[in-house]
Amino acid sequence: MIKTVFFTAISLIFFYIIWINNFFAHKEKYEMPAQYARIAEDVKSYAREGKQLFEQNCQACHSVRYDSVYISAVQANPKLKTLQEKYGKVLPKDVYEGVFNEDLMALKESFGKVPPDLSTIYLVKGKEYLFNFTLEPQKVLPGTSMPAVMTGRPEETAKIVAYLKSVSEPTPEEKSKRVLMGIGTIAYLVVMGILIWLWKGKILKRMGLH
Ligand code: HEC
Repeated sequence: MIKTVFFTAISLIFFYIIWINNFFAHKEKYEMPAQYARIAEDVKSYAREGKQLFEQNCQACHSVRYDSVYISAVQANPKLKTLQEKYGKVLPKDVYEGVFNEDLMALKESFGKVPPDLSTIYLVKGKEYLFNFTLEPQKVLPGTSMPAVMTGRPEETAKIVAYLKSVSEPTPEEKSKRVLMGIGTIAYLVVMGILIWLWKGKILKRMGLH
């Protein structure tokens, strides 16, 4: 009985951490006014506009490979189309960085490093960090070579964050598939647990121990 309670509690804590709230994850606090947080969260309403703003303000330096958005210099390169016919719209990382090395190195020349691809940045840094960093890079990361391109435009910045969130998220179909798989796995474990428990009782009885 104690064992059952113990293992149930451990399983519940485990799923709580991986699904609901990972309290081990490192979180830094950055302020974000509620009105902009709401925009950044609302992928459905703002991701499309955010993408256009990204193209205008960020694409000169940053790619979002998972959304087949490449830096402007690459986007203008006729090689891109040929490569996409061969590898699909989302080019493999090594192909992208290999073929367009010169364009990426030109940015490194100007900024001291290649501006990072932003496909997964939302998952890594979260909306508060992205919002504050994009709005005022020097304040968040003193000495960074990223120029302040969104000064005084918090609303548009929040829309860009909504776009970056949309890229980091699985599609709705993918999401419901994952939920189904989760439920299936737990149901399987529960059924197996009950069967084993029943079977154990039967064996013990047969051995005359029950
Ligand atoms: C003129 C080039 C340029 C433009 C335009 C630009 N960035 Fe950057 N960005 C950089 C460089 C260079 C870095 C690397 C800075 C560093 O590590 O110090 C960077 C880094 C970043 C990072 C990573 C920060 C971190 O903590 O590692 C984010 C996020 C980012 N940029 C978002 C944006 C967004 C959003 C826009 C458009 C609003 C944008 N950038 C426009 C050059 C640019």
